[in-house]
Amino acid sequence: MNNRQKVSLETIKAPLATEMVAYETFLREALHSESPYFDDILRYIFDNRGKGVRPTLVMLFAKLHSTEERFSKRIMLSAALIELIHTASLVHDDVIDRADLRHGKSSVNGQFGRRNAILTGDFILSRIFELGMESLEFDILTYVSHSIKWLCEGEVIQDEQTKTLGMTYDKYYDIIDKKTASLLAISCGVGALAVKAPAAEVDAAYEFGRNIGMAFQIKDDILDYAAADQTGKPMCADLREHKITLPLLKAFDTMTPEEVAEAKELVRLGNDEAIAKVRNIVEQRGGIAAAEEAMEEFIQKAKKALESYPESDYRTSLELMCDFLAQRKK
Ligand code: FPP
Ligand code: MG
Repeated sequence: MNNRQKVSLETIKAPLATEMVAYETFLREALHSESPYFDDILRYIFDNRGKGVRPTLVMLFAKLHSTEERFSKRIMLSAALIELIHTASLVHDDVIDRADLRHGKSSVNGQFGRRNAILTGDFILSRIFELGMESLEFDILTYVSHSIKWLCEGEVIQDEQTKTLGMTYDKYYDIIDKKTASLLAISCGVGALAVKAPAAEVDAAYEFGRNIGMAFQIKDDILDYAAADQTGKPMCADLREHKITLPLLKAFDTMTPEEVAEAKELVRLGNDEAIAKVRNIVEQRGGIAAAEEAMEEFIQKAKKALESYPESDYRTSLELMCDFLAQRKK
């Protein structure tokens, strides 16, 4: 399909080494409470946070649009707000999903209980607005705030689909746009906005982020069909929650209406035997390969868009980010 080199996030982040040190100090200060018990929870979140794909995108797009050496307050604030939005959404998501694990460790609800997790998510949201308002950088706060609304909408539309099993391509793409692609899009867009790039360039950065975000979620949906020892997550966990995603939708395309109805009935049953049958259907009908192709289209669109930027280490990192997201195995 393509000649991808193996990429690590460390390589992608390499041109941002200095910025990352300052950013981490800023983030820890943002995730801080005067109350020692609460601060323990926030430190736990800080120490067990994810790979930092989104703040990396913010910084890369800021650097791509500015020749200034200085790591400005606006860039640092933007990266931190994005990471805080992502973090708050995951803290609440694990409460909603009753998930005890996050990034291979106890989730906040698993470690500190549901009540504390809900309040911690609220606390982080309040820090987003506090930091944004205090900074007086209202354009940045306004821009990133849109994503919070979209994340909530995406979750609710998805929830409705798990009840009706009436998933269509339009609905699927709308859900993944809102629940995942929007925050990656906003991450790239706000990077350009932070260095006051013209509106058209902010929009172009947003579009790049949207394309890699769509690819990112399709990959996630493909990985739901992979073995647990590869991904570290139970196989077909989404399917068990009645989530019909792209691999199954693609398989439906090759089936008669009766066969689709039977497969949906298996999804509705959701027991081990039924789920194993659906997984077989998806594999035999080429659902995974077709979803991979759709993912690849989004990646290629994103890569093409990068060609219009001058060559730099930051552009190279963004090209590598495309490969990194497409080739990840968990
Ligand atoms: C992961 O989903 C989570 C999301 C895509 C976003 C969740 C959004 C909310 C809970 C809305 C609230 C937002 C804020 C800012 C408070 P997943 O369960 O599909 O993936 P997982 O395997 O990582 O849990
Ligand atoms: Mg979840």
